[in-house]
Amino acid sequence: MKSRNWLFGIVATISVAAPLSAAAQGELVLYCTVQEEWCRPMVTGFEKATGIKVLMTRKSSGEFYAQLKAEAANPRGDVWWGGTGDPHLQAAEEGLTQEYKSPKLAELQDWAVRQAEASKYRTVGVYAGALGYSYNTEQLKKKNLPEPKCWSDLIKPAFKDEIQVANPNSSGTSYTMLATLVQLMGEDKAFDYLKALHKNINQYTKSGAAPARAAATGESLVGITFQHDAVVQAIGGAPVKIVSPCEGTGYEIGSMSIVKGAKNMENAKKWYDWALSPEAQAIGSGAKVSYQVPSNKSAPVPAQAPKLGEIKLINYDFVKYGSSAERSRLLTKWDKEVSTLPK
Ligand code: F6P
Repeated sequence: MKSRNWLFGIVATISVAAPLSAAAQGELVLYCTVQEEWCRPMVTGFEKATGIKVLMTRKSSGEFYAQLKAEAANPRGDVWWGGTGDPHLQAAEEGLTQEYKSPKLAELQDWAVRQAEASKYRTVGVYAGALGYSYNTEQLKKKNLPEPKCWSDLIKPAFKDEIQVANPNSSGTSYTMLATLVQLMGEDKAFDYLKALHKNINQYTKSGAAPARAAATGESLVGITFQHDAVVQAIGGAPVKIVSPCEGTGYEIGSMSIVKGAKNMENAKKWYDWALSPEAQAIGSGAKVSYQVPSNKSAPVPAQAPKLGEIKLINYDFVKYGSSAERSRLLTKWDKEVSTLPK
């Protein structure tokens, strides 16, 4: 009887201790703004490396910025990973995110460190990529339309209802387009352009990369997105051609921030350091779901990633267009002057 009790004691200890040690690593609430296909292997990689359980939600850049603001009094998220830099900078300026100087900063490209410096270390660059558009080559041939090469081609009447782009309120990609056009053309001409483009838009999507999928399937002739999102479709075998607009184009510094008041602060820092490592930054290209340029100098640059050095890039002013006043003003103006126009 005595020995049975002893045995029972061990079994009870093991069965209680096992879940306790897993729980000891705790959790992490991740707000993920890249494509779901990339969020998932990142979560698995981090869980494997640390034993920390990740609860992940995927939303677009502008949506998570708004969510952080709405949740500021009682934050639910711990880390916001990915998404265009402008709303991350706006969140930093508004005190929605936490200052953190990762030991990994020394391993990063200058553009990623500049993003950290501009935000007083409340955000950091994790990848970069250029804006552009893609079109379905079979549809173009069928419709007997000329090859578009420039921004100016997209407002030609021949492209009526043939173009898809996201809504700049929800999507960081689309806000990057808005800010790029303002920097390329000047604000008045950019808004004239956006009004003309509006006539050719068949749908404003919520997510920035969705128009690349629409161009790939032929649901839309043209999709305005980051070029790396169209690369995913081209590699998947879709009949698409990717265009770097002849006038020049903008780019993103995809960013990451820790939420101010995060409930799992230590785990948030663990994710942050891990996500800046070469191993973590190789996961997306290894799984063939991301073709951005990674921010860690030792991370492999995917061979098919659009070559930023060969694209006519504007000198995008991240500080200005990521500021709270400018981003809010431009979005309000787009809502009032463009989105309400009849087609
Ligand atoms: O993951 C693809 C991607 O284009 C990122 O490069 C970018 O930061 C993000 O999506 C932007 O998404 P959205 O436009 O939906 O905010």
